Amino acid sequence: MTNPIFGADYYPEHWSTERWPIDAKLMQQAGINTVRLAEFAWSRLEPKEGFFDFAWLDEVIEIFMAHGIRVILGTPTAGPPAWLISEHPEILPVNEDGQRAGFGMRRHYCPTQPAFHTATRRIVEAIAEHYHQHPAVFAWQIDNESGHIANGNRCHCSSCRTAFQQWLQQRYGSLERLNSEWGTVFWSQEYTAWDQIPAPLRNGGPGRIGSAHNPGLYLDFARFTSDSWVRYQRLQGSILRERCPQHQITHNLMGLFPYVDYVALAKDLDIVSWDNYPRLPSIFSTGGLSVNRVAMAHDLMRSLKGRTFWMMEQQAGPSGWGVLSPTPLPGEIRLWTLQCVAHGAEGIVYFRWRTCRVGTEQYWHGILPHDGNPGKRYEEVHRTGEDLERLGTLLTASLPAEVAILRSYDVLWALEAQPTAEGLSYDDQISRYYRTLWRRNRAVDVVTEDLPWESYKLLIAPCLFVVRSDLPARLRSWVEAGGTLVLTFRSGVKDENNQVVDLPLPGRLRDLAGVRVVDYTALLPVGGGDPHGGSESLEFLIDGMSHLVGADIWMDELEVNGAEVLARYRGEPFEGAPAVTIHHVGAGHVIYVGTSLDDVGQNLFMEKVLTVAKVTPGVPSPDNVEIVRRVHDGIDHWFVLNHNTSAQEVTLPSSGIDLLSGKVISGPVVVNGRDALVVRSNANVD
Ligand code: GAL
Ligand code: ZN
Repeated sequence: MTNPIFGADYYPEHWSTERWPIDAKLMQQAGINTVRLAEFAWSRLEPKEGFFDFAWLDEVIEIFMAHGIRVILGTPTAGPPAWLISEHPEILPVNEDGQRAGFGMRRHYCPTQPAFHTATRRIVEAIAEHYHQHPAVFAWQIDNESGHIANGNRCHCSSCRTAFQQWLQQRYGSLERLNSEWGTVFWSQEYTAWDQIPAPLRNGGPGRIGSAHNPGLYLDFARFTSDSWVRYQRLQGSILRERCPQHQITHNLMGLFPYVDYVALAKDLDIVSWDNYPRLPSIFSTGGLSVNRVAMAHDLMRSLKGRTFWMMEQQAGPSGWGVLSPTPLPGEIRLWTLQCVAHGAEGIVYFRWRTCRVGTEQYWHGILPHDGNPGKRYEEVHRTGEDLERLGTLLTASLPAEVAILRSYDVLWALEAQPTAEGLSYDDQISRYYRTLWRRNRAVDVVTEDLPWESYKLLIAPCLFVVRSDLPARLRSWVEAGGTLVLTFRSGVKDENNQVVDLPLPGRLRDLAGVRVVDYTALLPVGGGDPHGGSESLEFLIDGMSHLVGADIWMDELEVNGAEVLARYRGEPFEGAPAVTIHHVGAGHVIYVGTSLDDVGQNLFMEKVLTVAKVTPGVPSPDNVEIVRRVHDGIDHWFVLNHNTSAQEVTLPSSGIDLLSGKVISGPVVVNGRDALVVRSNANVD
């Protein structure tokens, strides 16, 4: 590939043919070299079953080619057309309430329906056949944001239910085993035939879908659903691989989206891409997408394949369906783009080129406004493209991390069923650790049990609620060899089948942690009137100094069995008991945190942990100024991203040149609000 991808999501089918050359020209003038096309254009590509029309797409692609713009083609399966649904209404997914979706949204399909598989093969084979040698097409996006359905989180239709039963048969072999692993004796739920096993519909009233079910069944259904999406993607991927071996295959993921195991989904892709809307109020997380949440999502996306990725939809304007998000402030489109690049995006595609006048997304603003006239956002995109050109091959540089955070899909799903404590969110717990590292400008990978983590110096595994059978031994040998492992409350509680272990906690991690949980309590969220928790709940003793800090969500009362105490509780209910401990194991350490620390506590704690783990210090920076180090051709490069409105001063470890402005940087340097530097060091990496 020549130039880095700098593109826009374009929907020729939303505009008149006369407008196409105008758009292509405006794009070219803004430095745009790539468009993603067609991912929702099924009704135009196959207006009747088996009758294909590629003429319009050929025509628009010719226009783009003439303007030096290349094409990523989407397979259009996220928008099954009305003719298909009226012929095969069984394609419509069934949500957790047992309700079948109606036509009129998108992603209104079930990933296991045979009729949908047939229709998918037909359209994907036809489009792949038509474009496999097209000189402008270089990549495919399979489907669009797989993993959720039009009317809920998971499909519960009869096809999925049967497929689930078969999946269970493969996993457990016999009903006897399944009954015992799930503990179905509880409430007389023992199954005597595979076809009795349900897809878990909402039982137990609103908000209780997960906790009302057998935890083993619920976790397996979540695993099965995730698997169905992986298989559905594979169905398309194998067609594309066979017909278009020279093209790259991607899918647009959704960062911290919880319902698909993205490690498994990414395995079949050449490159991961993802959709990032930093100004969108909370989508999958509590508290909205703050700058460090976005950074964490980037780091997860990079870790999936341990390499750079593409942005397939990067926010380019105020967004929303019925209600708009605040508009990006001047400079934010550029700053967010540079943040993507800093964390590993080697290509950027903005959503969308022009704001649509029709349909559900009339408010989802693109680079151009409804009227199609270039304005402020167009100028900012143009300028950003020029910046990226200045960075050149730095976009593909490595991002070495010494620290990893374990974010397990099994844990996400098990806690989805049983959140365990009010206010306990797994991603929030992960974020608390991530944020503390982010503030110190330490590079972090976000991994799962299925990714290698043995090369890191420090592994933080918050709330490792479900522990796979091979994990304790793997962790032990890595710690013995010198690794530092951080475990927290609610670890080692469940086995792989989501049964509670018959051991003192933290279960199979107990010897490693050198502690035993003798009692525990859930706390009410801060402000919820809980007499425990809150400020000054525990006391850290660090280097002979005492520090009182707050805690919330949960408290484990610990007894040390070989570990040393780093902090003790103050006040009820566990006055004086160990709260945070460290255990020396071989050449390494295991640190156990029995509660959820407040910000002050997290900071104190992290300083200690980073020292213990001998993690290389990051470059210090003021609040909300992110510094990301990238090594390219043996030379340090620092992305300095000032997310504040006001100017801030930083001092980098060596002098260098700012690739964006061409200025020499030496000593303290002031970075304007919402501005960035990318400094190439004058010194070689030692
Ligand atoms: C993404 C999706 C796009 C567009 C955008 C705005 O989730 O992939 O097609 O819908 O959001 O809603
Ligand atoms: Zn289904």
